[in-house]
Formats: sequence, structure tokens, C-alpha cells
Amino acid sequence: MAINDEALKERVALVTGGSRGIGRAICLALGQRGATVVINYGNREDAAKQTARLVEEAGGKAMISGFDVSDASAVTAEVKRLAKELGGMHILVNNAGIAINGLLMRFKDADWQKIVDVNLAGAFYTSRAVASFLLRARDSGRIINVSSVVGEMGNAGQAAYAATKSGLIGLTKSLAREFAGRGVCVNAVTPGYIATDMTDEHLSDDKRAELLQQIPLGRIGRPEDVADAVAFLAGPQAAYITGQVLRINGGMHM
Ligand SMILES: NC(=O)c1ccc[n+]([C@@H]2O[C@H](COP(=O)([O-])OP(=O)(O)OC[C@H]3O[C@@H](n4cnc5c(N)ncnc54)[C@H](OP(=O)(O)O)[C@@H]3O)[C@@H](O)[C@H]2O)c1
Repeated sequence: MAINDEALKERVALVTGGSRGIGRAICLALGQRGATVVINYGNREDAAKQTARLVEEAGGKAMISGFDVSDASAVTAEVKRLAKELGGMHILVNNAGIAINGLLMRFKDADWQKIVDVNLAGAFYTSRAVASFLLRARDSGRIINVSSVVGEMGNAGQAAYAATKSGLIGLTKSLAREFAGRGVCVNAVTPGYIATDMTDEHLSDDKRAELLQQIPLGRIGRPEDVADAVAFLAGPQAAYITGQVLRINGGMHM
């Protein structure tokens, strides 16, 4: 859908994990509203280029930037370079994430470390790297963290994933308090089950049918369902919303 309401005109947005899934839809939603979108990716440069093409076809401006969000020094250096090149930064969407599932008693230390490093430390490092630019952007500064319904409800077999996603909620509320004095708003979204590579890889047909029973709206979510809410939180109409957790889950958790 072409939107072009220009609510985000002259804003620079960085979306981590923008190459695929929810992140790609967020890049499109921000680009359609006039933002210059920096599409971060981990390994899939091809997918990031495809996202950039889609943003440009929809009338937006895009560039790609590969870095591992769990590598603090790479994050800091690249954010600095990008902000210099683009004349600042206004919006950060901490979306990059991985799911490593398994029951607690069999969960490996290395997997715990990896998921904490990417999902939680990644958002921490990226927020820290972007902070000074957002504070300079004042009222147009925004951080939106992509948490999960699992961070609110828990889920057997996802203790580590849930812990990282709950952690993002604490990060959100603390940064909302730290940055409020400059008008910078920090919020989280907690998507329910959204159709992406992540859920395709981890959901069996039986589990999918069981899930549908728990979703009052009767369908799995689409990446666009999340992206439209993120674009709203990124824009001027959300200037009095901070420290909040917006549920986008078809009613599965109220
Ligand atoms: N799908 C759901 O049902 C659901 C529900 C709630 C919350 N979420 C959350 O929403 C976010 C996006 O999920 P998704 O379903 O869209 O997942 P996805 O399709 O698997 O995409 C994950 C994205 O994260 C990037 N990424 C992974 N590790 C990275 C790293 N170390 N550094 C930089 N980028 C990295 C990937 O980049 P590459 O393409 O380069 O690998 C990719 O763009 C995640 O935080 C996830 O936890 C998803």
C-alpha cells in the first residue's frame, strides 16, 4: 500500500535486522512515510538489498549497513559513520533478533550467551551508540524496541528467548525515563505470532493449529501489522507516548 503521508520526512531511521521479516516491513512503513531508512543486516546482504529496492519502489530513500548488533565496537563505529554521512539520526528500531529454543535442563551455555548477546545486548549497544544523536534530535527522537508476547507471558521451551524479551521491556522503561527530559520517546512493541522465517522455522503444523485456538482474531499476524504500529510510534502523533508496551497479538494476551 502506498502511504506517503510524509510524517517522517527529513528523519533518519536505523532499523536493525531490516533485511527480512518484521524488520523489512518496518523499513517499508518508515520509508513510505518519508524517512531515510538505514537497513541493517547480519549475514544476508542480498535480502537487505532487496528491502532497499522495495523501499525505493515505494518512493522512500534507503541504504544498507551490515553489522552484527552483538559486536559493541562495530555498532559504535558504524552508527558514528552513518550519522555523520546522513547528518544525524532520529529513529532507532531495535528489531534484530534470533530464537534459540529448548528446555532449560538441556539448554547450552553457548546458546544462552548467543541469544542474550544478540537480542538484549544488541539493543543495549545500539541504543547507546545512537543516544547522543537522538538527544540532539530532541522531540523527533524515538527508540522502538521489538520485544515479544513471550516476554510478557513466558513460554515453555523458550526461557532464554523470553528472558531477553522481558529484558527489553526493562531497557525500554529505563531509557524512556533517561531521555524524557529531551522529548525523546522510547517504547516497546510485543508482537504475538507473526508469519516470518523465524516462525516458519520453529512452528510445527500442530503447534500452529494450537496457537490459532488462542488468538481471538483467528489468524497469525502479518509483518505489516507490527510495522504500522512501529511507524505510528516513530512519528509526531506519538509524541506523548513513552515507556509503553504496545501489544500486537490478535488478542492472544490482553
Ligand atoms: N515472528 C514472530 O512471530 C515474532 C514475534 C514476536 C517478536 N518477534 C521479534 O521480531 C524481531 C524480528 O523477527 P522476525 O520474525 O522478522 O525474524 P527473522 O525473519 O528471522 O529476521 C531476523 C532479522 O534479524 C537479523 N539479525 C539476526 N541476528 C543479527 C545480528 N547479530 N546482527 C544484525 N542483525 C541480525 C537478521 O539479519 P540477516 O537477514 O542478515 O540474517 C534478520 O534481518 C525479532 O526480534 C523477534 O524476536 C518476532
